[in-house]
Amino acid sequence: TYVVTENCIKCKYMDCVEVCPVDCFYVGENMLVIHPDECIDCGVCEPECPAEAILPDSDDKATSWVEINRNFAQSWPNITRKGEAPDDADEWKDKPGKKELLSP
Ligand code: SF4
Ligand code: F3S
Repeated sequence: TYVVTENCIKCKYMDCVEVCPVDCFYVGENMLVIHPDECIDCGVCEPECPAEAILPDSDDKATSWVEINRNFAQSWPNITRKGEAPDDADEWKDKPGKKELLSP
C-alpha cells in the first residue's frame, strides 16, 4: 500500500485524489490519508503530490504512518474531487516537524 505522510500536513494540495482509480483517499482538516486496505498499490498518486507526501509503506519514512492512515480513513469522509489547497500551502511545503500539527 501507499500512505500519506507528514509532508501533506497543512499543504493538502489534493492533486492525489484526482488520479486514484479506486477513490481511497479520506480527508481531514489539514491532511489526507489513504485507506491501506483499499489502495491497490498502483503508485499513480505518488508523483502527483507536489509535497512528495505519498510514500510506499516499504519506505522507512512511512512506517509510523500506516496505522495513522488506517485509523483516520475509518473516521474521515471519502474525497474524490480536488478542492482548494490552503492559501498558505506553499509556505508549509518542505517544513520539518509538522507531525504534531496534524488535526484529528
Ligand atoms: Fe490510489 Fe493507486 Fe495511490 Fe493507492 S497507489 S492511493 S490506489 S492512486
Ligand atoms: Fe497531500 Fe500531496 Fe495529496 S499534499 S493532499 S498527499 S497531493
